[in-house]
Amino acid sequence: MTQPDNTIVLLGGGGHALSLLEAMPAAVAVKGYTAPEPSPGMPVRWLGIDKDFRELYTPGEVRLLCAFVYGGRPDLELRRRIIGEYAGWHFYTLVAPTATVTRFSRLGEGTEVMHRAVVNRATLGRHCVVNTGAVVEHDCRIADNVFIGPGAVLGGEVSVGADSFIGLGAMVRNGVSIPPGTVVGMGAVITSDISEPGVYVGHGRRIG
Ligand SMILES: CC(C)(COP(=O)(O)OP(=O)(O)OC[C@H]1O[C@@H](n2cnc3c(N)ncnc32)[C@H](O)[C@@H]1OP(=O)(O)O)[C@@H](O)C(=O)NCCC(=O)NCCS
Repeated sequence: MTQPDNTIVLLGGGGHALSLLEAMPAAVAVKGYTAPEPSPGMPVRWLGIDKDFRELYTPGEVRLLCAFVYGGRPDLELRRRIIGEYAGWHFYTLVAPTATVTRFSRLGEGTEVMHRAVVNRATLGRHCVVNTGAVVEHDCRIADNVFIGPGAVLGGEVSVGADSFIGLGAMVRNGVSIPPGTVVGMGAVITSDISEPGVYVGHGRRIG
């Protein structure tokens, strides 16, 4: 597939958008961002709401990066919904200059590996986020649109289903499977397979 040039537009203008700007390799030019209104503190140009932006630009001109992550109880469909409006557009796959993605790792289009995160011979789908300092160990299989929070650690051969969320500092034991649409709360320690999607905290206690 021919990739458009390294000109990026961010979808969203909040805190994660600012983090993406900080994690961008120097060779990449960020044209601006879409958002319902201009965001104070964003150092790049506001390009209007998504609909206006799509009328002004064509998919061949830029690559996109989804700048939405979740606050509070995550809306696991949010990123998927936003990305879904951009069928036919290209997304940029971001590896921060201080992150490590080993040679035999695979990252799907639009996945974001933030500062000091490590992906060690693992496979990630499209539009995932491996946030600051998270570790995804050998032979993990991470499906599309999975958010892995800052400092979370996934041991070897963990599998995570699509549209899941692993919170800040959570630990997932090697070999464990997590089904699609699951939330693992911050600081959780997951030592065995989760059989049903839900919200899990502590040592795998289900709260939702
Ligand atoms: C798990 C989580 C999604 C639950 O959020 P919520 O549905 O709003 O839950 P509440 O805050 O109402 O808490 C419900 C109960 O679960 C407990 N709880 C919530 N999160 C917990 C966690 N991570 N570990 C242990 N207990 C937790 C609360 O203390 C509360 O207990 P109580 O009913 O005995 O008072 C949220 O707490 C969480 O961990 N979010 C992840 C944050 C994160 O990683 N952000 C990344 C930003 S980059």
